[in-house]
Amino acid sequence: MESDCPISLILFVLFIGGNCSIEETAVIKLPCLYGSPQHNLLDNQPLPPNTAWVVLGGGQDRKGENLDFEGITFILKDSPVNLTPFLKWGLEDLKCDITPYFTADTQILWPGVTNTDNVVDSWYIYTVKHNGGKFSAATFLTKLSETPEKKEDDKHHVLATFMLSTRTPRVYARLMDNVLLDCAFTVDHRADVSVSWNYRGRGRQEGKILSYNGATKMLQYNWKGVSMQVEELENGYASLLLRNVALKSEGLFICTVSVASLFAEQQIHLQIKERPNVKLNVDSVVTLKEGDERKFVYDASNYYPLDVNMEWLRELPSTELLPSLLNVIYSSHRKNHNGTYSLSCSFLYKASLQDDGVTFTCRVEHESLKKPIRNSVTLIVLPNDDSPVWMLALVVSLILLLLYCVIKYCTDRNTNKRKPY
Ligand SMILES: *[C@@H]1O[C@H](CO)[C@@H](O)[C@H](O)[C@H]1NC(C)=O
Repeated sequence: MESDCPISLILFVLFIGGNCSIEETAVIKLPCLYGSPQHNLLDNQPLPPNTAWVVLGGGQDRKGENLDFEGITFILKDSPVNLTPFLKWGLEDLKCDITPYFTADTQILWPGVTNTDNVVDSWYIYTVKHNGGKFSAATFLTKLSETPEKKEDDKHHVLATFMLSTRTPRVYARLMDNVLLDCAFTVDHRADVSVSWNYRGRGRQEGKILSYNGATKMLQYNWKGVSMQVEELENGYASLLLRNVALKSEGLFICTVSVASLFAEQQIHLQIKERPNVKLNVDSVVTLKEGDERKFVYDASNYYPLDVNMEWLRELPSTELLPSLLNVIYSSHRKNHNGTYSLSCSFLYKASLQDDGVTFTCRVEHESLKKPIRNSVTLIVLPNDDSPVWMLALVVSLILLLLYCVIKYCTDRNTNKRKPY
């Protein structure tokens, strides 16, 4: 076998996760869950899924490989419909499911495929999703009838015939952005595909965005501000471009591509995130006289979604002490006409000399931000000359001085008086 990754290493990579690049010629063994259509005879509940394996890649060289795995095994014949380009993201973050595809007793006419024997059991669909949202793919498999069928045999030789995938299962956009919702397909022969894009929003909001009929070559739009390149269908792309996204386009976009009577779909979740603009009502250095009052306000405006965390912290200069939270007052959320929100957070401060050099920091956390926004204000507090405290201190010290003098005078006189004795 010509490969940079010997099979034992590949299996190792499968479980440990590593950077061994997947060569076209390498055999890949994908752990899957097989959802059997059968139900438990006692309570009619669906049976729990079984462990299964999908074996792909390896070219024709893998004849000699040991393909005896525990569980049901689907061995894919080489086909132009190939998942391997997606597997560069690594195998450790994938979720794979395989289920029989119900053809509702209609025979699927597919070039090169003869399913004469068992119509119910001859089509499968396997879906592979990347947990980090890098891609999602659904592939139709058909059982190869040349396989000598043995009831106890858990090994199925199958052919991948049609795959629909997206590299953007989750899309985050800002308001007014143009976004491309990726939807790509591969069919093992030249075929007229039909495409439809549908939308499902919050609540029961649903609707058709567009439909393209492969037989009549007619494209019909039901939404404005969207487009799909019909020429790109030749190359296997049915991606949808959304222009100037608004909050009302948040939701699920469903790309459905059909060939013969096989329908595949991919769901793309679009979410809007708008970053807050942060503004303080004071400069970065605030000078106050002892006893003065000042209101510190910071505004976070035009953010989306609603959840936001705003705080004011008090930090002592050059200490290892953790900053403490200040007691603040929040305004209520204000909603702008474009659906974004604004909020302000404030506190009233009365200057005290011991706060000289302290910094007040406002911090905003929001899901549109990689790290919180922080803004600091340094406080300078000057003593107040005509402060009553100052006056009181002066008066008290004068009285004490006077008292001291009086006592000293009296003691001195007493001592002098005693002298004659
Ligand atoms: C949303 O509306 C606010 C208030 O009218 C405006 O300041 C802000 O720029 C708008 N945001 C976008 C992305 O248009």
